[in-house]
Amino acid sequence: MAVPRRRRSPAATGEALRTDLAAEQPPTDDGGRQGQPPTDGGGRQWLEARRRRIEAALDAALPAESHWPPTIHRAIRYSLFAGGKRIRPLLVLAAGEAVGGADDALLPLACAVEMIHTYSLIHDDLPAMDNDDLRRGKATSHKVFGEAIAILAGDALLTQAFHLLVDVDPRDLSDERLSRRLRAAAILGAAAGTSGLIGGQVADLEAEGRDDVRLADLERLHRAKTGALLGACVVGGGVLGGGSEDDLGRLARFGEAIGLAFQVVDDILDATEGAAQLGKTAGKDAAAGKATYVRLLGLDGARQTAARLLGEAQAAIAPLGERGAVLRGLAGLIVDRHA
Ligand code: IPE
Ligand code: IPE
Ligand code: MG
Ligand code: MG
Ligand code: MG
Repeated sequence: MAVPRRRRSPAATGEALRTDLAAEQPPTDDGGRQGQPPTDGGGRQWLEARRRRIEAALDAALPAESHWPPTIHRAIRYSLFAGGKRIRPLLVLAAGEAVGGADDALLPLACAVEMIHTYSLIHDDLPAMDNDDLRRGKATSHKVFGEAIAILAGDALLTQAFHLLVDVDPRDLSDERLSRRLRAAAILGAAAGTSGLIGGQVADLEAEGRDDVRLADLERLHRAKTGALLGACVVGGGVLGGGSEDDLGRLARFGEAIGLAFQVVDDILDATEGAAQLGKTAGKDAAAGKATYVRLLGLDGARQTAARLLGEAQAAIAPLGERGAVLRGLAGLIVDRHA
């Protein structure tokens, strides 16, 4: 099949998170503790340095392509390393660092959320779900490997995510770090489950083609299918970083607002950008009769909602002061993105 090439895009796009930053001066490795907002030069260094750590940690967390049976490992790596923006693992690191955590303690969750996210995309694209043939600028997993392997690649990523999170040598970790890992695993499990991502995907499919979906239904759907996992990134990162309960409450409010905003913007992008920019099919929501913010509120209304949610997110972490600078920058990028 013909796969559109992804166009190089302006600085505020998700593509910029992957490529344009590589043109900046070499990142300084600050040990994961002194981040700056990802909207200035120092912030770009923060993004690029963290992104490299995330890529390396994901690579190390998975069997090589040649590992038996190679088909499944090729399929896993095909989707995972296809060029995602890595927003979720970046949020884990930003939240954890905001409360004083070091990246070594945060990377297992950062990798786990990206694995779960990628599994959800592989399954979301299946013919039985959104039936898409383009993802991350490439043919979807089932188009390349067949439906059976695509389903199993998703299953494998979900399984590996939780394995990674709880694969600790008790002799290496204090009771406190062990209990933080367990708490993060429970948060992630809840977010990925039937009250979160899975529940939201079910509601999304059931809302398809219906004209009686109200805004409150849609908000609940979006909070579940997309917001829950983003919220788990932020709160889970805060837990692993050793945040106080007060800070975790702030991070939770930030995560709820930015998590919903993320899907509102995804709805907007589906209606306004092309496939070459998005790396996935454009205009699909309207064609499939999906319930979206654009359908219910129009483009202006959806944009106003995203802007209002960004304000809520920023207000929630205002008490963090400078510690919240990276999170504030990421929130801005999420709402201002073009892919
Ligand atoms: C797309 O997520 C799916 C949604 C939840 C809207 P992203 O826009 O983060 O996709 P990648 O990871 O960059 O491919
Ligand atoms: C996907 O929502 C949400 C999950 C994968 C959980 P969409 O169906 O809107 O995502 P895209 O637009 O295909 O990336
Ligand atoms: Mg979908
Ligand atoms: Mg989809
Ligand atoms: Mg979408």
